Amino acid sequence: MSETAIKAVIPAAGLGTRFLPATKAMPKEMLPVVDKPAIQYVVEEAVAAGIDDVLVIIGRNKNALANHFDRVTELEHTLEQKGDRSKLERVMHPSSLADIHFVRQGDPKGLGHAVLRSRKHVGNETFAVLLGDDLIDARDPLLSRMIEVSQSQSATVIALMEVEPSQIHLYGCAAVEKTGEGDVVRVTGLVEKPSAAEAPSNLAIIGRYVLKPEIFDVLETTAPGKGGEIQLTDALQALAADDEIAGPVLGVVFTGRRYDTGDRLDYLKSSIQLALDREDLGPELASWIVELAPTLEPTLEPTA
Ligand code: G1P
Repeated sequence: MSETAIKAVIPAAGLGTRFLPATKAMPKEMLPVVDKPAIQYVVEEAVAAGIDDVLVIIGRNKNALANHFDRVTELEHTLEQKGDRSKLERVMHPSSLADIHFVRQGDPKGLGHAVLRSRKHVGNETFAVLLGDDLIDARDPLLSRMIEVSQSQSATVIALMEVEPSQIHLYGCAAVEKTGEGDVVRVTGLVEKPSAAEAPSNLAIIGRYVLKPEIFDVLETTAPGKGGEIQLTDALQALAADDEIAGPVLGVVFTGRRYDTGDRLDYLKSSIQLALDREDLGPELASWIVELAPTLEPTLEPTA
């Protein structure tokens, strides 16, 4: 089957309260991970999967996001005059990545509600949803695999990853059955943020989805769920429970590198991991960590 171009939707209307006061006047998606705002990694990932049309669902403080993906001619001019090609390229790159559109969520009523706001822009086509708290390493392409599975099996596809049972309450969790393909499972049920005891598996939904347009009608009638919010997981559960609505729901089980930027500690760890991989920063940062590590030992808990 030939690949058809699909659109990407990036919900970015959360309040980012875990990062206050940094997120008081700026969306959390603009927090830099090394030297790029988190959302730029996500847009680059969509582009790498062949997507050239991105809709960002925004809350208040939209200006920083819109400006980031826009041209900034005075700065470009100054850098050009100075002959600083490398910085010029870094300034211009975000504005040349894709066609980026913005729509406001209005009331923040949950992820399902945010996705519903993309209905007009997406129309009657399959589309991808990428959540900004999860960064996927560019060397481990996940989204293109999900698109391929969706197109070959006419399925809704979600990304799953094994997590420690103690962490499952932070995620949507999937009950699954094996299929003939190693990395693909059939999703038979979904529950949003279950306790470890209630969880049907240790497979967590990580923030990548390839959705069919039928999801919109389901979302329209999805009642508020966990936390009083309209949950995308609940709408997907309705699809998983009834193949007649939009075909099967499949999961691609990801085993590659994922960086969580959702809370402060994970954000710091992700920034360090990504910086260690950079040619320009990695070696010096690694030496510094090696120097620093022994000085930290006395504060570590004994492991045995
Ligand atoms: C959302 C989804 C959840 C998913 C998670 C992935 O939760 O509701 O099902 O597992 O993203 O990051 P959030 O982290 O926005 O609370």
